[in-house]
Amino acid sequence: GDYDGRYRPQIHFSPPKHFMNDPNGMFRDDQGTWHLYYQYNPTGVVAGNQHWGHATSKDLYHWVNQPIALFPPKKNQYIFSGSAITDPNNTSGFFPSQGNGIVAIYTLAEYDEDGAPGPQTQAIAYSHDGGYTFTPYHENPVIPSNSSQFRDPKVIWYKDHWVMVVAYAQEFEIGIFTSPNLKEWKHASNFSHTGLLTLQWECPNLVPIPYLDADGTKQDDMWLLAISVNPGAPLGGSTTQYYPGQFNGTHFDAVDNAARIADFGKDNYAGQFFYGTAEDEPPIYLGWASNWQYTQVVPTGEEGWRSAMTVPRRSWLTKAKRIGWKLVTEPYDLAPVMGPQLASNNSLVNGSLTVDFANVASNALYWEANITGLPPTGIAESATLNFAFLAPQTGESVRGGYYLGGDTPFFIDRGGARGFDNVFFTDKFSTNSLIDSGSWRMSGIVDRSILEVFLDGGVESATVNYFSTQPLTLMVLGTADMPDGTDVSIAVYALESAWA
Ligand code: FRU
Repeated sequence: GDYDGRYRPQIHFSPPKHFMNDPNGMFRDDQGTWHLYYQYNPTGVVAGNQHWGHATSKDLYHWVNQPIALFPPKKNQYIFSGSAITDPNNTSGFFPSQGNGIVAIYTLAEYDEDGAPGPQTQAIAYSHDGGYTFTPYHENPVIPSNSSQFRDPKVIWYKDHWVMVVAYAQEFEIGIFTSPNLKEWKHASNFSHTGLLTLQWECPNLVPIPYLDADGTKQDDMWLLAISVNPGAPLGGSTTQYYPGQFNGTHFDAVDNAARIADFGKDNYAGQFFYGTAEDEPPIYLGWASNWQYTQVVPTGEEGWRSAMTVPRRSWLTKAKRIGWKLVTEPYDLAPVMGPQLASNNSLVNGSLTVDFANVASNALYWEANITGLPPTGIAESATLNFAFLAPQTGESVRGGYYLGGDTPFFIDRGGARGFDNVFFTDKFSTNSLIDSGSWRMSGIVDRSILEVFLDGGVESATVNYFSTQPLTLMVLGTADMPDGTDVSIAVYALESAWA
């Protein structure tokens, strides 16, 4: 693969070439190696011909592309999304003489000769070499079906049995199945018609997750059900919604029936939590950083590839001021790709700072801004914090900013980048970010064609693709009309390419 292209993210995963969509089968093995599989069309830059591509990493940023792991078993049958688990105790019987057995659980999607969708069934394949090559189980499918809309099995271990969540996509229903051995599955319950319906439910994930208070102190062990919905998200196309709740091994109970959306941008879909993370560690999420509305026509196709993943993110639940339950995500330890500090300023009150990063080879940055000493009331509506990334030759921009007073909106505007014109590639995104305890934080990553922004430590986050005709090489950060007694500190770091 050639990772030099102008749009090629340097600290994010993208496929060596051709088209990628959902992350699949993510797990950490007994050597500490992270495995990422993904929906992959190895013959084109549009969706279709689904295989499972594969990559491995020691730190979740430096990825090694591996040979394709799962191939369509026959003509007109494809490998759709799914999950993978480690089976150290040989519950499946596939691994009588080894402790590092891996089983992949996925959807076989059939089409008839005319391309009309046929049955979607759940199948398994086992790996004797730690997840590099797989043998399909000879009695597949393990969950038969006549439905053409039944897919995306995600399996976890619960105390003494396996649990699968799987989507009845057009019935807005998640099936929960249990199994002792991954081969025989029993339907246990359904979760349905809660939150947003849109037109399909896909890629469910059920994961144990800590509930931490605002100081990061653990309050409780909870569960999270995440469901990807498409098309018909509030911002158009695809998005991810989630439900905090409890799970007893067979039934999931959400705390309420509210719709909660994981990202206020438009480019975070079909995400998964890694299997096999340590019990005292928050779950680690990775999403597909794109949107079905335009993913097949974005200009990275000119470089021979389409789609990247989000950065890996630690995830937990918190209760945010006024709105209550929130899924929090923040980048997983960036140290392996962190470069030199390019700028810092501890008193950026009513001033601005310009960082020229034209000579940062990766063209990627990480930044943080921290406002403290804010009064509880009376912040002027004109009080702002702004950032902009600029292409000096063309004047193109990607920018964002926060209005601290009034209704506390935060916005991102990718409309100043002119490399892609598509009616669904909408420009502007916004959310509200309430100020708690007199302080407010922002951090972000900009990486050639992806921007990820985290507000207040990740209580709000946005994933945004952008495509400028020229590289963005100037960053401007500034504040205006800040209340007396406020402090603003900022720090900007280069990121080092994980692909160079
Ligand atoms: C989600 C999805 C899944 C399906 C896969 C096919 O993006 O539609 O439901 O398994 O993509 O590539």
